[in-house]
Amino acid sequence: MISFKDVSKHYPNGTTAVDRLSLELPEGGITVLVGTSGCGKTTTLRMVNRMVEPSSGTVSVGGRDVLQADAAELRRGIGYVIQQAGLFPHRTIIDNIATVPLLLGWGRRKARARAAELLELVGLPADSGKRYPHQLSGGQQQRVGVARALAADPPVLLMDEPFGAVDPVVRTQLQNELLRLQSELRKTVVFVTHDIDEAVRLGDRIAIFRTGGHLVQCAPPAELLASPADDFVAGFLGAERGLKLLSLSTLADVPQEPVPADGQRWRLVTSERGEPLGWRDAEGPDGDRAPLLPVRPLRDADSLLTALDESLASPAGLVARVDADGVLTGVTGRDRIHEHAGRRHAEAGRAAALKNAVATASDPSVTA
Ligand SMILES: Nc1ncnc2c1ncn2[C@@H]1O[C@H](COP(=O)(O)OP(=O)(O)OP(=O)(O)O)[C@@H](O)[C@H]1O
Ligand SMILES: [Mg+2]
Repeated sequence: MISFKDVSKHYPNGTTAVDRLSLELPEGGITVLVGTSGCGKTTTLRMVNRMVEPSSGTVSVGGRDVLQADAAELRRGIGYVIQQAGLFPHRTIIDNIATVPLLLGWGRRKARARAAELLELVGLPADSGKRYPHQLSGGQQQRVGVARALAADPPVLLMDEPFGAVDPVVRTQLQNELLRLQSELRKTVVFVTHDIDEAVRLGDRIAIFRTGGHLVQCAPPAELLASPADDFVAGFLGAERGLKLLSLSTLADVPQEPVPADGQRWRLVTSERGEPLGWRDAEGPDGDRAPLLPVRPLRDADSLLTALDESLASPAGLVARVDADGVLTGVTGRDRIHEHAGRRHAEAGRAAALKNAVATASDPSVTA
């Protein structure tokens, strides 16, 4: 969908912002660009919509060299979201969102109807449409920025640190919203951030840049975490690399065991519908009246990290597994979860090593 072939950008003052970048961004996926300040992320992003023109090499969108395209037409197919939203302060929220449809000549009524639809899509109340940007919170303004970028339904979305200026709680909400939107809309998204946790949560692939505009590694998050290409990448991923990897792996393929029968010390008490309510100590002095210790029922989509947490918190050392309706289906023991966590780590590392070996073997520039 978007491809960079041997692309460099030298600014007139002699700065090399991007250095011989070759990168393919798959259609319908989120590619996250990360790296320290000044490593060329924004420059890379802006070469996609031709706000910056490459000094050499080719950037293409949908198979077409951006330099051959009409810039205005190119940008109509590319939504752009920046930090602080960049809204027009003197226009209402609805009119901000309707900007591009109006430019496209949709007519006022249709453009506003579309804007109202988008307001709802990004989770804002309908009456906020009449307000002005300064009357919204920072997080709400960012949502408007996303709505505005999506207004003409462009296949490509460029996002430059869109959630960088909001607090961590709102940031997490906005990330969840983006993932929800993306599961419906399947845009080709290029997302820039400084925050590796954000990159791991959002990215289908993560591209790590080093100062001087060098791409160091581009891989799916799990692969990156399991086998960073070098010490720079490992350092960037941080000391909790292993934990992050576990947060990406789910419980789905971890087997369940039958719920402990009566006669065991810890009994899992359920509601009539079969929903886990808590653990009871059958050997305690209060017998059946003993207070319940909390249980956090886990679904297959929950992460191994959450499962490890819960297995440590659980007095029985077991996590309660439930189906989509919250009904108990079985339990899994702490050791089993540990074992899977270890295996997951080894597998991801092996897959990455194999891929590297294949790439090296098929690369004519590498001679044995
Ligand atoms: N118009 C310009 N003229 C000259 N140099 C520029 C220009 N724009 C950017 N640069 C330089 O190019 C390099 C890359 O800048 P860029 O904005 O792409 O980095 P970035 O990775 O987005 O940084 P940040 O994380 O701080 O946003 C930096 O050294 C920057 O100073
Ligand atoms: Mg930048």
